[in-house]
Formats: sequence, C-alpha cells, structure tokens
Amino acid sequence: MAGTIIAANWKMNKTTGQAIEFARGLKDALLKKPVSAAVVIAPPFTSIEALAAEFRGGDISLAAQNIYPASSGPFTGEISGEMIVDAGCRYCIVGHSERRQLFGEDNALINAKITAALNYGLMPIFCIGETLEERNSGAEFTVLTKQVKEGLNKLTANDIKKIGIAYEPVWAIGTGKTATPGQVQEAHLFIRNLLSEMYGEKEAAGVSIIYGGSVTSDNIGSLMAEPEINGVLVGSASLDLASFLAIINFH
Ligand code: PGA
Repeated sequence: MAGTIIAANWKMNKTTGQAIEFARGLKDALLKKPVSAAVVIAPPFTSIEALAAEFRGGDISLAAQNIYPASSGPFTGEISGEMIVDAGCRYCIVGHSERRQLFGEDNALINAKITAALNYGLMPIFCIGETLEERNSGAEFTVLTKQVKEGLNKLTANDIKKIGIAYEPVWAIGTGKTATPGQVQEAHLFIRNLLSEMYGEKEAAGVSIIYGGSVTSDNIGSLMAEPEINGVLVGSASLDLASFLAIINFH
C-alpha cells in the first residue's frame, strides 16, 4: 500500500528566521494532534540545517528542492546528494515544472538526478505533468508516458519502491486553478497502470502518487477522497502555518 505524503514546497520563500518560526509552530501542532501522513517540508537550501535541528527526533521530514547528479566538483551554484543528506534531508524534489521551464531541465537530466538521489538514500519526489496546450490538444497521456519512461530510464523494480511521484499539471500550479478530483484520479490511475506495465503490479501499488497544483484547505478533502491520490505537494498554501495545518488536518 502506498503511504500518504503531505509535502510543502516553499520554493524561493522564507528566510531562516521565518522558516524556524513556522517549524516551531508546526512541531507544536503535530505534538498536540499527530497525523498519520508523512509530513515533509522542502525549504530553500539555506534553511535546511536549521530546520533539521528543529525537527530532530520528531516525525517531520525535510526535502531538498533540487539536487545535482555529480557527487562533487566544479559545478558552481549546485548542491550534491551527499550535502543534502548531510544537512538533514530524507527526500528530494526532482523535475519540478519550474525547473523544467525556467532552468531547461530535460528528462535525461531529471533521470540522472533521480539516480543520484537514490544513490544517496534520498527518496526522490519525481514531478511530472502536462501544460495546458498539451491537455487541450489531448496529448496529456503521451506527455506523461514520455516523462515517466525517460525520467525513470534504467531504474529497477527495486528502485521504484523508493520513489514518490508528484503529478503536477503545469496549468494548475500557482494559478488557483486546481485540477478536478476526477481529472487527478484519472491521471494517477494512468500513471499507476504505466508503472505496473514497467515494473509489475505489486511494485506499482506501493508507489505514492501525490498531486500538486493549487491545493488548499478547501479542496484537499475532495482530492484525498479519490483512491489513487496518495497525498499532495503544496506550494502557495504551505507558506502560511494556519493554512498548511488546515491541509494536514483535512479529515
Ligand atoms: P501551488 O504549487 O500549490 O502554489 O500551485 C504547487 C507546486 O508547485 O508544487
């Protein structure tokens, strides 16, 4: 059975002081009212170590927002898997559509990043999703297939057990336009069937497939009611503690 993941992608937001304030509030709230989902925060790199100190010994995990495939060397501005693990992360977001669109990441680079994350024992949260044009032209499943096949190139059934997938239709990210629960369910089922063809039914059933794109406390309940939605990756609505807590406590 795929585990439930509720992850906050802070993107390029919050100073370390602001991150610590949020972390303390989150920690207190979860001590008072624990949740069964894995709660993951992806802060900017600059706050990871401070948050790792805040979360030590607790149930909240940290994710990096990016990783570079090489282990070290002349890659100005980049961060390796070893550094990410050393700073205190268990997860790593890979292939977010902002990285694909603004920084030119392609499926081959994303595949190398996923492989590097796995080599360091990080769980990649592998983001895929179609643009509005692609959906309007009926190409969404072709795009998803290509992203999954190329992004997971050369990975084994054993590797797949350690990966999470985030379906994030580009048209729903930061736009306030959430995909309907039915659209998300359909896409997740498609992804699960594809994984099943590639790695076997049992392996596919164990992969957490989460949804991202304008998730809020208002729509989380209807999204999580769908059987194939194993959690969410939340951007804007994760920046405010009260709003994120309302998402975590959606039941
Ligand atoms: P959003 O971002 O919730 O602001 O749409 C989601 C994401 O990009 O992961």
